[in-house]
Amino acid sequence: MNSEQPDFGLAPVLARRITVLGCTGSVGSATLDVIRATRARFGADAFPLEALTARNSVAKMVEQARELRPRFVAMSDTAAASLVRDGLAGTGIEVSGGAEAVLEAAMRPAEMVMAAIVGAAGLAPTLAAVERGTIVAIANKECIVAAGDVFRAAAARSRAVLIPVDSEHNAVFQLLDFRQSQAIEKVSLTASGGPFRTWSLERMAAATPEEAVAHPNWSMGAKISVDSATLMNKGLELIEAQILFGLPPDSLDVVVHPQSLVHCLIAYVDGSVHAHMSAPDMRTPIAHALGWPHRLPSPARRMDFTNLIQFTFEKPDLDRFPCLALARQCLRMAGAAPTILNAANEVAVEQFLGRRLGFLGIARTVERTLNGLALEAVGAAPATLEDVLALDGMARFKAREACLVEAA
Ligand SMILES: NC(=O)c1ccc[n+]([C@@H]2O[C@H](COP(=O)([O-])OP(=O)(O)OC[C@H]3O[C@@H](n4cnc5c(N)ncnc54)[C@H](OP(=O)(O)O)[C@@H]3O)[C@@H](O)[C@H]2O)c1
Repeated sequence: MNSEQPDFGLAPVLARRITVLGCTGSVGSATLDVIRATRARFGADAFPLEALTARNSVAKMVEQARELRPRFVAMSDTAAASLVRDGLAGTGIEVSGGAEAVLEAAMRPAEMVMAAIVGAAGLAPTLAAVERGTIVAIANKECIVAAGDVFRAAAARSRAVLIPVDSEHNAVFQLLDFRQSQAIEKVSLTASGGPFRTWSLERMAAATPEEAVAHPNWSMGAKISVDSATLMNKGLELIEAQILFGLPPDSLDVVVHPQSLVHCLIAYVDGSVHAHMSAPDMRTPIAHALGWPHRLPSPARRMDFTNLIQFTFEKPDLDRFPCLALARQCLRMAGAAPTILNAANEVAVEQFLGRRLGFLGIARTVERTLNGLALEAVGAAPATLEDVLALDGMARFKAREACLVEAA
């Protein structure tokens, strides 16, 4: 450690052994960037890596593992695993393949796990990390939405610490004064509005995957970029916030803020509003999570208050962005609804990215799936991982049927 620099009380934090699930993605790569910057500043021993995981990004995994030296690498795709094994020959890094290998990575003895796999594929490994009672930085919002009760119960049993990484939830986590939670009037999550904020419905009907993933402020993976374009992302985030912070659904709100500089607004009964700000750069919430409960210096972009153009806020347009209304409906219904919503949305987004479904077909597919499964009949929230996976599978089947109706 450089003795001329302050250590911010970080010594015990820097010794944490870390596993990054989904290290080749947008959040995973940003996490490794923060680790790289931390090692450059505090020494090569900072944040030793236990395991890295990915699906099939072979070249990126080999490059990351050669540079940052985890003990273990898991690729969920077994063919990719054998290529990575070749690429890491002679390094002493253990490589394994298949979904069980990713699960093993999550179960290895790291003090902190970054859960950054996209979608329900992250369910089992993220839950395994929570069940170990470790610190889990949660980026993978789909697993919280699909299995909220399961995660809550597992964290309560194991005493795992869940630190939200989504910028809005990380902002709420930083600001929320739990002693005064009864005095909260409203928690507003901000949404950029995505690339189609000002588009007409006619124009949105012809939107291409390339246009949908071209987010104005954030550079993210394809799935969350499409979710941002439909505003489903913000809907999933409302549900995620309800689960993580235990707030009543009616106290949660969405405000469109195109500059993405304010990430949440917490309004109290006395009229005070606390806002959290930072530049739109995931390395800020990631550094907060990695450094918690201290502050870790991060390489993230900074806000420049001498050069700020404006802060604007507007209401979301639920007619053009019905996914947000559907998610809000599922937030109020709770029970099985969020699991079905999440699964249907994952199928619809995949179909849209594969050009088999139009952009407006995403919301219609989700709505048809929700209606088709007669939510009242499906009932209670799944209580075990097996229940979640069964319901998720049923919803995916219905969603694929709904996509066929769209295509007909
Ligand atoms: N990107 C953001 O700025 C951001 C912000 C807030 C929250 N989040 C959330 O963070 C999560 C990750 O988002 P992202 O944008 O980083 O996604 P991404 O760029 O698509 O990366 C996904 C990661 O998961 C791995 N993966 C994909 N499918 C898998 C499977 N079936 N089994 C095992 N690993 C698999 C990918 O490996 P390969 O590279 O090998 O495919 C990659 O490492 C999402 O839940 C998203 O909602 C993202």
